[in-house]
Amino acid sequence: MSGAAPGAVVLDDKELLAQRDPGGMLGEVAGAGDQARAALRRAEAAPLVGPLPEVVVVAGMGGSGVAGDVLAALAFASSAVPVVAVKGDRLPAFVGPGTLLVAVSYSGNTAETLSAVEQGLAAGARLVAVASGGALAELARRHGGPLVTVEAPPGRSPRAALWSLLIPVCSAAEAAGVLPPLRDQVLAAADALDAEAAALGPAAPSDANPAKQAALQLVDRLPVVWGSGQLGAVAAARFRTECNENAKVSVVSSALPEANHNDVMGLEGGLGPGRALVLLRDEAGEHERDGRRIAAALEALGVEGPVLRRAGEGSGLVRLARLTAFTDFASTYLAIARGVDPTPIRTIDRVKAALAAAR
Ligand code: F6R
Repeated sequence: MSGAAPGAVVLDDKELLAQRDPGGMLGEVAGAGDQARAALRRAEAAPLVGPLPEVVVVAGMGGSGVAGDVLAALAFASSAVPVVAVKGDRLPAFVGPGTLLVAVSYSGNTAETLSAVEQGLAAGARLVAVASGGALAELARRHGGPLVTVEAPPGRSPRAALWSLLIPVCSAAEAAGVLPPLRDQVLAAADALDAEAAALGPAAPSDANPAKQAALQLVDRLPVVWGSGQLGAVAAARFRTECNENAKVSVVSSALPEANHNDVMGLEGGLGPGRALVLLRDEAGEHERDGRRIAAALEALGVEGPVLRRAGEGSGLVRLARLTAFTDFASTYLAIARGVDPTPIRTIDRVKAALAAAR
């Protein structure tokens, strides 16, 4: 796939980067900090306050639905009520008047999300919608559910709007008493995103840029990605979906310590030349035995130098910011190193068009 220039040369050449990233995905990823700040302003302006629910359900697909995974991971350690992320048309049978249903869709027109909302409204759930417009915004207006309108500049992909989508979803949970106040965390996460963009962005050369180095190690290999802790697990899934959509490659992802009970068998005998292991560690969210568990797995498999990224210190959103900056930059560099345009998602578009025509 890749052209004549070797990977590191391409990733360090400003003009080649621009040529191979005509949709500007690298710029989108680098702008995540400002996106988070703008999203906070929008969420704070929306009338989100509501009663403490019995359960929170977040309905959304793909690059939008990841916001539900993040909320569930953030709520895990502190929330008195369960948070469930749903990816499909159907909601669980327990959904009813005590449910806060947060529906998140960048376009506002995703079929599965819209049918989940219809079911939730019919069951008496309280709806909060997060969308740039579309039928979801319309449904929210019709049913009097608060809507946070997501900023959607021309050409932006849903997956590049992670922080625009995520902050209002978390703010809806905060305003219902499910999460503690978030403002300081969001602002600190925005600063962390800026710092990561400086360290991992295009201006940082390959020999000092872990995201470029990761991409170069992954060219022509199957990435096997493991994440530790609740947030590391979400980041591992994000790494997979970002590599799918940006670099157009398949990825295997799993969470630790669960991977020690199954995934390791697929790697029996070692990674070999065709696979590379990526570890996204959120040590602050790990169990005290997880470090030993990870070391034991690496030793059993004979893996000496996995691609390793640590979430570091700070609140949940700050740690997540460090990991998603890495997943988003590394997957975009992987696309560019492979000679693939990161932005278009033609097969997803074809599948959606075929389904819309068949309605
Ligand atoms: C595209 C992307 C997709 C969409 C998904 C749902 O960048 O990430 O996974 O997010 O097809 O569409 P929306 O987000 O409009 O509800």
